[in-house]
Amino acid sequence: MKILITGSNGLLGQKLLHKLRKDYFVELIATSKGSNRVTETSNYTYFDLDITNNDAVDELIESEKPQVVVNTAAMTNVDLCEYEKKNCGALNVDAVRYLADACAKIDAHLIQISTDFIFDGKDGPYKEKDKPNPLSNYGLSKLKSEQLLQTHSVKWTILRTMIVFGVGEKLSKGNIVLWAKGALEKGGPLNIIDDQFRAPTLAEDLADICILVAKKKAYGIFNASGKDIMSIYEMVERIAKHYGNAIDNLNKISTASLNQKALRPPKTGFILDKSINKLGYNPHSFEECLTIIDQQLKK
Ligand SMILES: NC(=O)c1ccc[n+]([C@@H]2O[C@H](COP(=O)([O-])OP(=O)(O)OC[C@H]3O[C@@H](n4cnc5c(N)ncnc54)[C@H](OP(=O)(O)O)[C@@H]3O)[C@@H](O)[C@H]2O)c1
Repeated sequence: MKILITGSNGLLGQKLLHKLRKDYFVELIATSKGSNRVTETSNYTYFDLDITNNDAVDELIESEKPQVVVNTAAMTNVDLCEYEKKNCGALNVDAVRYLADACAKIDAHLIQISTDFIFDGKDGPYKEKDKPNPLSNYGLSKLKSEQLLQTHSVKWTILRTMIVFGVGEKLSKGNIVLWAKGALEKGGPLNIIDDQFRAPTLAEDLADICILVAKKKAYGIFNASGKDIMSIYEMVERIAKHYGNAIDNLNKISTASLNQKALRPPKTGFILDKSINKLGYNPHSFEECLTIIDQQLKK
């Protein structure tokens, strides 16, 4: 099976790259905007691909003819998506259309990664069929990308995820779990919001469900988060307990006190029954994830 991934310099992209390049049954094409930042360069071919360039997307997919394309590239900074609506639309919506058009021409399967931010967070955890109501431009852009696929002739799968975390190489952004781990080790006072609830997702688990979907040719919408739902405060507390850090310096604060540009849904989390039963998705517990991260950081 020939698989092409976009955004291979990103967190999910790197996890997919490392899993798929070792897969005997997969021929891997990794693409990202700019040069390859992954040190390991064997067993795959890398192309510089900006997915907002329609011609470049069309030409590469036409010439490489992958059976599956996994689109991990996106504008993921939720506040930036409020300030830069045009760029957000170009990357999170228009580029998905370019990929869908190119995939449809060669009958390839497009796997798109979406988010819990398509929901308003009033009544999570959510099932795949629940009604979206995004509060932010990021959420709206991801919902638009979902909607365009649902009316497109391409074979599509939408995987919805949230708070993706893990260890990667030269990543352009951090993630909350690694940030909290580092901040707890320093020991200073930490203000943590306690009015947002999420199911943090280990990047390896998300990569695994992408691969399951590709190999099983599973189409439609699937929830793809971690399995433990907790407040952000509880998440930091569990990280502290796991690594043996003190929690006396943790202060609970409200989301409103942060004055962020984009609104965040208070309580999401996903019901994973469909992914577990239909795909065999088996995400780690949060504490297992922390142990995996610890082993990776020690290497
Ligand atoms: N992270 C989360 O908490 C979270 C939550 C919900 C959903 N998701 C979704 O999950 C997916 C993967 O997230 P992630 O955390 O792995 O994101 P990420 O680390 O930001 O990776 C995205 C990658 O796409 C690359 N990229 C940016 N613009 C591009 C373009 N025009 N063409 C090609 N590549 C481009 C980025 O390049 P640079 O590295 O050079 O910037 C980056 O390497 C995204 O669709 C995201 O919306 C993520």
